Amino acid sequence: MTVLVCVGAGFIGSNFVRLRLREHEDEVVVLDKLTYAGREENFHDFSDDPGFRFVHGAIEDPQAVAGALEGGEEHPIEAIVNFAAETHVDRSIAEPDAFVRTHALGTYVLLEAARTLLKGAPHGGGRAGERGLRYVQVSTDEVYGSIEDGSFTEDSPLRPSSPYSATKTGADLLVASYFHTYGLPAAICRGSNNYGPYQYPEKLIPLMILNALHGDPLPVYGDGMQVRNWIHATDFGRAIGHVLEHGEPGEVYNAGGPDECPNIEVVRRIIELTGAEESLVEHVTDRPGHDRRYSLSSEKVRALGWEPRVRFAEGLEQTVAWYRENAWWWEPIRSGDYREYYERQYGRSLQA
Ligand code: NAD
Ligand code: TYD
Repeated sequence: MTVLVCVGAGFIGSNFVRLRLREHEDEVVVLDKLTYAGREENFHDFSDDPGFRFVHGAIEDPQAVAGALEGGEEHPIEAIVNFAAETHVDRSIAEPDAFVRTHALGTYVLLEAARTLLKGAPHGGGRAGERGLRYVQVSTDEVYGSIEDGSFTEDSPLRPSSPYSATKTGADLLVASYFHTYGLPAAICRGSNNYGPYQYPEKLIPLMILNALHGDPLPVYGDGMQVRNWIHATDFGRAIGHVLEHGEPGEVYNAGGPDECPNIEVVRRIIELTGAEESLVEHVTDRPGHDRRYSLSSEKVRALGWEPRVRFAEGLEQTVAWYRENAWWWEPIRSGDYREYYERQYGRSLQA
């Protein structure tokens, strides 16, 4: 299959591309804007793969999208997987602008390109429709908001809390409208909190690992009893692959991890795994509008034959080991603009 992955230079996208090249021998074209979170370093082990092509551009730029779609004349695009997003809730609270642009406008531009391809003009000459072009929108459990007990199903109401999740919800609704109105064969896959290698250290797990390794304070928001439903990025990537290959157009599929854990417990486990001092834990001002708990029921995607392979305890241990062994990956981040972001967000500097 030839897949256009928008985008593949971020955390989950690059893990997904790696899986598709290695386990499915797909041809993959990656379109990515390379924001602070998108890094060519994430391609380091597959950039020379003959099945891989990178196009630098934004999904809200119709010319860039057309260029990525047209480039594969020999192997026309059969599927579009849209990972493109601004993904950090704290940044969406501080500066929502890019979230609206990428999620609303970007998704619209991609959908229009997919619709054009499906109609057969001008990019695809009818081939896309004949081949049954697939579009998968990568989404998040955060569109459902917070849940005290039980788990969200695909029919749960959409009650997003942050500018991040609200604009992701808008993108999902736009995708659904292109299925209902134009018959675009699009499905949506909503994941729970991902973790694993190549995650930018603004997110809880890599932030805590790197701070613990450097002896920096571990900033826990509020009481730290917020619960997240952790899924390893390779498990989420395989779920997206299942939806791409076996999902029904017009449907939504939740992909939740096998384990839930309160944040403070995640931080305690990272302290154990890194050998850091317990006294580094610092309870700081809570995030505004902080969702208390996320939990996904994944019965529908399990019925397609998917199940998560990595339990949280084992995946967290491997993730800590990966960050320990791959300083080449995070050192440029930790010594660059990230330091300024950290100071703005946490009101203090990183020590080392
Ligand atoms: P990330 O922040 O690591 O990477 C985002 C990528 O998007 C970067 O490569 C960036 O360059 C690119 N990008 C951003 N705006 C773009 C634009 N306008 N045009 C082209 N490229 C653009 O993200 P991630 O954590 O890998 O998340 C990927 C997807 O998975 C997102 O859609 C996110 O909502 C979803 N998701 C993430 C999680 C999680 O825990 N991280 C959980 C569930 C769902
Ligand atoms: P995060 O990784 O930002 O993901 P999300 O907000 O999408 O769930 O945060 C995960 C949880 O960890 C969330 O409850 C907020 C909390 N958190 C902290 O307590 N301290 C931090 O420094 C960060 C980044 C997050």
